[in-house]
Amino acid sequence: MRLPLRTAGAATLAVLLGTAAVGADAIQDFLRRHWRPPLAPQGPPPARFSPLEASLHPEACGTCHSAQFADWRESTHAAATGPGLEGQLVEMLEGDPRSALGCLTCHAPLAEQSPLVAEGNEVRPNPAHDGSLRAKGVPCAGCHVRGHQRFGPPRRDGSIASGVPRQTLPHDGVTRTPAFLKSEFCGSCHQFAPDGFALNGKLLENTYNEWKASRFAREGVQCQDCHMPERRHLWRGIHDADMVRSGLTITAAAGAARYRPGDVAAVTLRVTSTRVGHAFPTYVTPRVVLSAELVDGAGQVLAGSRQEKIVGREVALDLSREAFDTRLRPGQSVTLAYRMKVPGPGMRARLAVVVEPDAFYVGFFETLLRQGAGRGEPQIRKALEAARRSPFSVFERELPLS
Ligand code: HEC
Ligand code: HEC
Ligand code: HEC
Ligand code: HEC
Ligand code: HEC
Repeated sequence: MRLPLRTAGAATLAVLLGTAAVGADAIQDFLRRHWRPPLAPQGPPPARFSPLEASLHPEACGTCHSAQFADWRESTHAAATGPGLEGQLVEMLEGDPRSALGCLTCHAPLAEQSPLVAEGNEVRPNPAHDGSLRAKGVPCAGCHVRGHQRFGPPRRDGSIASGVPRQTLPHDGVTRTPAFLKSEFCGSCHQFAPDGFALNGKLLENTYNEWKASRFAREGVQCQDCHMPERRHLWRGIHDADMVRSGLTITAAAGAARYRPGDVAAVTLRVTSTRVGHAFPTYVTPRVVLSAELVDGAGQVLAGSRQEKIVGREVALDLSREAFDTRLRPGQSVTLAYRMKVPGPGMRARLAVVVEPDAFYVGFFETLLRQGAGRGEPQIRKALEAARRSPFSVFERELPLS
């Protein structure tokens, strides 16, 4: 999303942690240091490190951590510097470099990924820049490496101590902390600060707070429990049909068993958010469409019979206002109550739930291209095509009516 810079993070974590009573002070202290944006350059690696241990490239980590690498490379985090972002950055890095740096704090968080660095009032070329890292999105090192030291979760048995001298382990072993198991770990990029960009009194990005207010927080179910099952680096979300289905309970009912021609059929389609740990969907960018229509014996849709209900938070493309917010809080339901006169025999009601994960971006990229995307145009075209291709169905059913 293109966001005003003041939303972009500097205050995010400090304030976030202020509101997060969860966990010990030690965890909060760790996270405050770990996610202070923008991240500091790693500096020179320890002399003992081999080139493989010194490398910040996910491919290097992947030579020894192949399972995490295989998952990560297919994830949205690996794709966080895709054409939608880069197409906007081409011009922004020259025209409005501070905003561009703000985008990079979430989309390419390592200091080494940024061509520029802000110093006081000035923006200068970044001496630590490594151009080959930019396309790696949110890389392993963005979450796991600071000053060339590895940080990670406790072992699965909960233990933290190394057991053997750390110097005998690759990359001098790892500092283990339970902070990696907490929702707060994800908040630095998935939650705006209280003074961040808001519309209609609601922050544009509010995922952590939505989770915090839910029964999942009370029951101790963290972001990682749903998005990194068995510690896998999947982060599946609104772009994945199975993930979306896993969070919902969808039912369809035809009211009466049979209707006679001329009767008014009463069909209901109901979607309940049963295992989504925040608003469904959490961002302003997706849209979910519940629909019902009549089809005849030949499978033809009856003109004028379609009715829809939209679940989402729709905002203007320039983010100047919110049109509506029909997202489901955890536990909430939406019902499409379909009433339609059955015109003849052999009729069925066709019900569907379709997810458009990038609905906002379709309009946004179209507008950007119309206004002129400059040298970013080829990438924005690519991003627009991908956004147009993204809708998928999570539920389809036909109920016989007559
Ligand atoms: C030369 C092989 C090698 C490379 C390259 C390597 N690692 Fe490791 N890593 C290991 C080994 C072996 C361990 C287990 C150490 C231990 O038990 O304390 C480990 C442990 C870890 C852990 C803790 C994992 C656990 O089991 O709890 C993390 C996190 C980690 N590495 C991240 C990284 C990242 C990120 C990179 C790339 C920037 C990287 N490693 C590169 C070999 C490697
Ligand atoms: C606070 C963290 C944060 C900042 C700062 C941020 N984004 Fe994002 N961005 C996200 C998250 C999380 C998503 C995924 C959710 C969504 O699609 O809204 C995302 C999604 C996107 C997408 C759609 C996915 C894609 O890769 O095509 C684009 C484009 C994008 N951001 C561009 C930008 C631009 C340009 C800026 C700076 C003006 C920016 N973002 C600043 C967190 C951030
Ligand atoms: C967005 C942040 C993030 C990124 C990017 C990331 N990790 Fe992790 N990683 C985590 C978190 C959080 C955990 C702990 C997950 C849990 O316990 O549920 C973890 C756990 C691990 C573990 C321990 C796994 C285990 O079974 O105990 C290893 C090893 C690891 N990561 C390596 C990597 C490598 C290699 C990459 C890149 C290919 C990578 N990570 C990318 C956040 C990240
Ligand atoms: C350094 C910033 C950063 C951190 C830390 C981070 N994320 Fe993300 N995350 C992003 C960005 C940026 C995107 C959007 C990528 C894109 O499509 O361009 C994203 C995308 C996602 C998505 C997919 C959204 C979709 O469109 O379906 C999920 C799920 C997610 N993150 C969960 C997590 C969880 C869970 C954690 C904590 C373990 C976490 N993230 C930590 C920056 C971050
Ligand atoms: C109880 C399970 C659960 C928990 C806990 C949970 N999520 Fe999700 N999350 C889901 C499901 C299911 C989806 C797919 C439906 C959707 O997009 O809302 C999802 C989608 C997402 C998306 C996709 C974007 C969007 O607009 O919906 C992001 C980003 C995300 N989660 C981040 C997080 C973060 C960050 C946390 C912790 C603060 C978290 N999730 C906690 C289940 C969970």
